[in-house]
Amino acid sequence: MSGKWVKVVAPATISNVGPGFDIFGMALSDPFDVIEGRKIDDSILISEITGPGAESIPRDPAKNSAGIAAAAVLEKCDADFGIELKIKKGIRPCSGIGSSGASAAGGAYVAHLLCDNKLTDNQLVMCAAMAEDVTSGGLHADNVAPCILGGFTIIRSYEPFEVVRVDPPKDLGVVVAMPDVMVSTKDARMVLPAEVRVRDLVFHVGNASCLVHAMLTGDMELLGRSVKDAVFEPARTHLIPHLKEAEATAMSLGAKASFLGGSGPCVISFFSKKEHSGEPIAEGIKNMYASKGMGCDTWVTDAGRGCRRL
Ligand code: HSE
Repeated sequence: MSGKWVKVVAPATISNVGPGFDIFGMALSDPFDVIEGRKIDDSILISEITGPGAESIPRDPAKNSAGIAAAAVLEKCDADFGIELKIKKGIRPCSGIGSSGASAAGGAYVAHLLCDNKLTDNQLVMCAAMAEDVTSGGLHADNVAPCILGGFTIIRSYEPFEVVRVDPPKDLGVVVAMPDVMVSTKDARMVLPAEVRVRDLVFHVGNASCLVHAMLTGDMELLGRSVKDAVFEPARTHLIPHLKEAEATAMSLGAKASFLGGSGPCVISFFSKKEHSGEPIAEGIKNMYASKGMGCDTWVTDAGRGCRRL
């Protein structure tokens, strides 16, 4: 048996967003992966992987994010068929903008469509997060949640699992700058401290609360002030060449906030679309990296929709 192909877009995402380690995430309009799937008799088959970094992505469905997530959905839905998947990467692996998350979310979403949308949002996101657990060295849903649901998402709790979605401000613009260096989430999770000081916890709760308030009210100044991280980015700064210079460059060119995207190496800058085109920030960071002899890809984008059928 082989059924009709279903094609979905799975967007890049920013995770952590300052104080919300493993909690906050935001979907981007660009870049994105395209995942196609169709019913087959049984098991998961990955028949094609193309796009940047495709050669480094495992085809074994038990090791591939899309394959693991699709299998989790089939199991949850008690499906009596398998799925063939084709993955077209728009987001290179080890980028810090949710490459494995997009594959996981896209794989889960295709399987969800082929199972006639039986799962709740929380169930679907958790199936995708199970793939992150296998491939990224820890259960985290802050990429797959916004990738599936779009907008800005908050994981209220992992056990029981609950995700809440809000619409980000319309004038929130985003510059993504991806320097030519690979940082694996697995490695970047290994450098994190085992414990957090009470004063850092207080700092994070204050900033996280105000960041959500700013997202809801569209207060871009408060949003900029609240994208702060006293624990996770400092522990990872040494993994990303010239991170602090990239952030300082963005701030000097009118960004409201500039910070490490997920586990890096992407540097994310927020700007107000009412005040700025975002292009000078992208150019500035690119030039800074060029002056150090490093390449850097950039996207000027904004908050976007979640997984959807093409
Ligand atoms: N919250 C995760 C981390 C996201 O920072 O390790 C990884 O993409």
